[in-house]
Amino acid sequence: MSSAPLSTTAFVPEFTPPAASSAAPAAATTDAARACHVPLPTDQELVLKVIPMPGDCNANGDIFGGWVMAQVDLAGSVLPARYAQGRMATVAVNEFVFKQPVRVGDILSFFSKVSRVGRTSITVKVEVYAERYRSQGRYTKVTEASLTYVAIDDQGRPRPIAKRPE
Ligand SMILES: CC(C)(COP(=O)(O)OP(=O)(O)OC[C@H]1O[C@@H](n2cnc3c(N)ncnc32)[C@H](O)[C@@H]1OP(=O)(O)O)[C@@H](O)C(=O)NCCC(=O)NCCS
Repeated sequence: MSSAPLSTTAFVPEFTPPAASSAAPAAATTDAARACHVPLPTDQELVLKVIPMPGDCNANGDIFGGWVMAQVDLAGSVLPARYAQGRMATVAVNEFVFKQPVRVGDILSFFSKVSRVGRTSITVKVEVYAERYRSQGRYTKVTEASLTYVAIDDQGRPRPIAKRPE
């Protein structure tokens, strides 16, 4: 990715500084944003990074939840693919929590960890962290989810997973 500054015309800013006469609310907002910052997980694998664009917004101007779910489904499939070694399908979204809104221009990092390996299925946890447009390098957890994938054969029927955990 280029290190050149992003064009402000293409992005909805996370935080619009208030007029000089209202400094107190600005400080409160900054404190609230800082309180959301968390360390990245060290026991999970980074499986995807993506930046939402204006075309991914809902009517509020935040990022559409369905877009986030699609990215989580893709990210969640990365670790199960190592076990399935072939065709697989998402059978269940066990849990999905939108903890904070996602905004245009956020850099999203998707972390994942296998939580269960069954006979034909693999369940993973996915956590999504946002680097906000004006605070890159600091992370806010925006979404967490649990999904189950099933290894399937050419007829779409469940098949035993090819590779067992070591
Ligand atoms: C995935 C699919 C082949 C599974 O078929 P099925 O007849 O339900 O299979 P089974 O009942 O034998 O279950 C297969 C595995 O899925 C797991 N599973 C089934 N339903 C589940 C659910 N609701 N939640 C979590 N796991 C589930 C089972 O526990 C089993 O795992 P295990 O073998 O590791 O113990 C079938 O449901 C399907 O084709 N679904 C549509 C998939 C799809 O279109 N996804 C969206 C696009 S990828």
